[in-house]
Amino acid sequence: MEFRIIEHGLVDSTSERAFAALSGGQARDGDVHVALGQTAGRGRRGASWVSEPGTGLYASFVLRPARVLDPVALTMGAGLAVHGTLMDLGLVRAQLKWPNDLLIGGAKVCGILAETRGLDPARPHCVLGVGINVGQRQFPPELSGQRAVTSLALCGVNVAVGAVLERLLPHLGRELERAERDPEDTLHAYFAATGLLKQRVRVLAGEQELVARCTAVELARGLCVALDDGTQRWLRLEHVRGLYLIPQ
Ligand code: BTN
Repeated sequence: MEFRIIEHGLVDSTSERAFAALSGGQARDGDVHVALGQTAGRGRRGASWVSEPGTGLYASFVLRPARVLDPVALTMGAGLAVHGTLMDLGLVRAQLKWPNDLLIGGAKVCGILAETRGLDPARPHCVLGVGINVGQRQFPPELSGQRAVTSLALCGVNVAVGAVLERLLPHLGRELERAERDPEDTLHAYFAATGLLKQRVRVLAGEQELVARCTAVELARGLCVALDDGTQRWLRLEHVRGLYLIPQ
């Protein structure tokens, strides 16, 4: 995939800029909207993404694949790409948290948001928003009071925002290509990276919460879990809201 970087100063949201380019007919596959800061950065489930100018990577990738990509494989591929980037930077403690957050020492360092507006199967598109905390030394109390957050700088890695993007691009290119060519392989790579398979986990799926052992995973059938009563259940991946390793 060939990436074309489109730099912005302070914008509402890089994903909004990507959608504006898509609806204006100027967006190409591989366009990357990067901003210095965002005034209305958004996260999953209506949350906002704190985007102080110059401290984080705020990037949105325009994807215009030939056919509709599996959304689960796509977000997992993006998570794997950021995971690989953090490993390159020496952050070997970085962990993927279902479905595609990246944590270091249990604190969130990256969030990923894949969005589509109005699905036309003949001309599929997706905007993949990636936010990585790079240089922040502190976070506003309304965020840090809510959950544990960290940045590369707080983890001892002092790197420029642009250098993080440069390292991310080859990983993302490879992962997007894999998610398109062999989404099942992306899924297996994701589970290998999380170390969740064969382990006891707590699963939040729809309205239920289960404690079970993860035994298999497939795109079509989902996550197979073995319950303590000896039965097994297949849970559709898009219904799995949370998946947590139970330390032994
Ligand atoms: C999450 O809630 O974990 C997802 C956060 C995604 C944030 C990124 S920053 C770049 C892009 N633009 C946005 O408005 N959001 C995404």
